Amino acid sequence: MRRLLVTAALPYANGPIHLGHLVEAIQTDIWVRFQKYSGNEAYFFCADDTHGTPIMIAAKKSGKTPEEFVSEIQRDHLRDFQGFQIQYDNYYSTNSPENKALSEQIYAAAKKKGNIDRKTIRQLYSEEDGMFLPDRFVKGTCPKCKSPDQYGDSCEVCGSTYSPNELIDPRSAISGAVPVLKDSEHLFFKLGDYQTFLEKWLTTGVSTGIKRKLDEWLKDGLRDWDISRDGPYFGFAIPGEKDKYFYVWLDAPVGYMASSKNFFDRTRKESWDSFWTKPGSEIHHFIGKDIVYFHTLFWPALLEAAGFQKPNQIHVHGFLTINGEKMSKSRGTLVRGSTYLKFLEPEALRYFYASKLGSGLDDMDLSREDFISRWNADVVGNITNIFSRLCGGIAPKLESRLGSLSTEGKALKKVALQTAAKATKFFEALEYAKAMREIAGLADSINRLIAEKEPWKLIKTDVEQARTVLTDALCSARILASLLKPVLPSFVQGVENLLNLKDELSLANLDFEFPVGHTIHPYRNLAGRIDEKEFDAMLEEEKKLSATQAVPAQPRKSSDKTQSADSEKSASKAKAAGATTAPGPDAKNKDTKPDGLISIDDLTRVQLRAGKILKAELVEGADKLLRIELDLGENEPRQVFAGIRAAYAPEDLTGLTVAAVANLLPRKMKFGISSAMLLASGEGAGLSLYVAHRSAKPGDLLK
Ligand code: 2FM
Ligand code: ZN
Repeated sequence: MRRLLVTAALPYANGPIHLGHLVEAIQTDIWVRFQKYSGNEAYFFCADDTHGTPIMIAAKKSGKTPEEFVSEIQRDHLRDFQGFQIQYDNYYSTNSPENKALSEQIYAAAKKKGNIDRKTIRQLYSEEDGMFLPDRFVKGTCPKCKSPDQYGDSCEVCGSTYSPNELIDPRSAISGAVPVLKDSEHLFFKLGDYQTFLEKWLTTGVSTGIKRKLDEWLKDGLRDWDISRDGPYFGFAIPGEKDKYFYVWLDAPVGYMASSKNFFDRTRKESWDSFWTKPGSEIHHFIGKDIVYFHTLFWPALLEAAGFQKPNQIHVHGFLTINGEKMSKSRGTLVRGSTYLKFLEPEALRYFYASKLGSGLDDMDLSREDFISRWNADVVGNITNIFSRLCGGIAPKLESRLGSLSTEGKALKKVALQTAAKATKFFEALEYAKAMREIAGLADSINRLIAEKEPWKLIKTDVEQARTVLTDALCSARILASLLKPVLPSFVQGVENLLNLKDELSLANLDFEFPVGHTIHPYRNLAGRIDEKEFDAMLEEEKKLSATQAVPAQPRKSSDKTQSADSEKSASKAKAAGATTAPGPDAKNKDTKPDGLISIDDLTRVQLRAGKILKAELVEGADKLLRIELDLGENEPRQVFAGIRAAYAPEDLTGLTVAAVANLLPRKMKFGISSAMLLASGEGAGLSLYVAHRSAKPGDLLK
């Protein structure tokens, strides 16, 4: 029996759980359940990641203490995860006494080993806010392309990255105040001291693909990592320092340990540190591809410094897209778990993710058609069909009593056991899509046997032969249900009830035959079809919700390799499996505004600019559109397709300066790409563009 401690990445306590988080939660839950049902001792630990500037500011905005704020969010997170049957052994918080003590212990060990350095760094400081500003909390004009209103780390317009000190006319994104440069002493973990250790650990701890990527880093030598932040900061004070706190990414992974400690101390099952201090058990972390560096370099090095066991494996997955696009708040595709659950079955998502997941880093697309057809065709049409035909149609006519297996039944059982051998290998290797294909293949074979034998006809001529078919098919269907159990626990519970089993199904007793005379229970529907309308209604609802509520929606930049003070930006972003297109510091917002009202921050996320129409022309084949060349003060004019032909002749437009949305994702239209949107009101011939009243420079920001 293996002993496994398994974790999923800790979600930030600054916004709701969305379908992106659930890719990882479901992937991990399936694996843990698979291990448990296989007879291994497995534990699944998680927690909320509660520290850092964004959460501190969000709490303040909502008029709550950070502690109140994060504990309310933790409650919601757990509720949502439970809605999807994620079975944590413990869902804890990084703002806990266990985490504080362990973070201090690890830091003290590193310090004792001489791995901690002090360096003075220059950072923007806002007198008005009384704090140093993390990169994402500074805004100003891009030093490269001169676009105004850009963040301190990178420009959304030209894509360049820079340090906040280089921004022209920098401002605090919190108060709008002008910050000053100020020195501050920071503590650094000398990651380079662990270069040799990491090179060796990486040969087993990650996949070869990830190892190859990390090798690029290793060959350049590892840089020191800034692990301190100045107060005010919501986090743990660094012992022996004045007004300095551990950077959120130092104590976040320690949260894995703390969650396990809290569990084992409470349940007294065993000593918490048997997993962390002694060999003989396994530690597995599941994460998204955006946080690889934290888990494969800093974390194992810290564990090594403090003499703890290192993870056996870091399992990395890709991101989620919806209908082929990044999840986006405005399109209503940054779907909260709670919104999904209002319209659709949790197990439909579990099945869908399982049927798409492999062990690699590929992104996964959730498209409406695919989602619906997998559930309706595989789970309802193929699998449920077996039980409804046998237990609903046939069994009641046979007093619901089973007989013994025929030669054909035994052959089918052999096929089922072979399928199980393959599928369990695939589960272990995180190749769930392949496991699902094996299971679907087995369902086909069982259905084929039923179709060939036509037991509904046999009932009229030879009852005992009909009973044999029922027995043959159910024996293999029982194996099939056991294989499905990690993915569809409720569905399979329904099967367990139906089959009237003494013991719950598991993967440890697949080779089983019903005793002759075993009776089964009356059929109760196991799964119903889902409809496109429900999927659309879910997106509609989410769109409405997002229009009135702030959803933290920050893509983490893949370039987030930084090991210096500015890596706060990665902490300020929501779970990346749900990476979205929305820029802005709103990761710090929980919904705290009255319905319908938006904050100034929300407003500034939409870049409204003055655009000069250089050229307008008809578009062949499109009777509503005009093609416009719009000068937004950039090197090149942008092409815009505007549905204004009924109201304006092209020649009336040239030279006008109009209001345009400048940071809209380019849209691919039939006639070309449209890269901005003109503001207008009214319909048809009554439509009116908004034109600058006085002379306005192309590119000027509307405010
Ligand atoms: O990226 C994130 O969402 C982080 N909150 C993950 C932390 S995982 C672990 F290290 F705590
Ligand atoms: Zn720029």
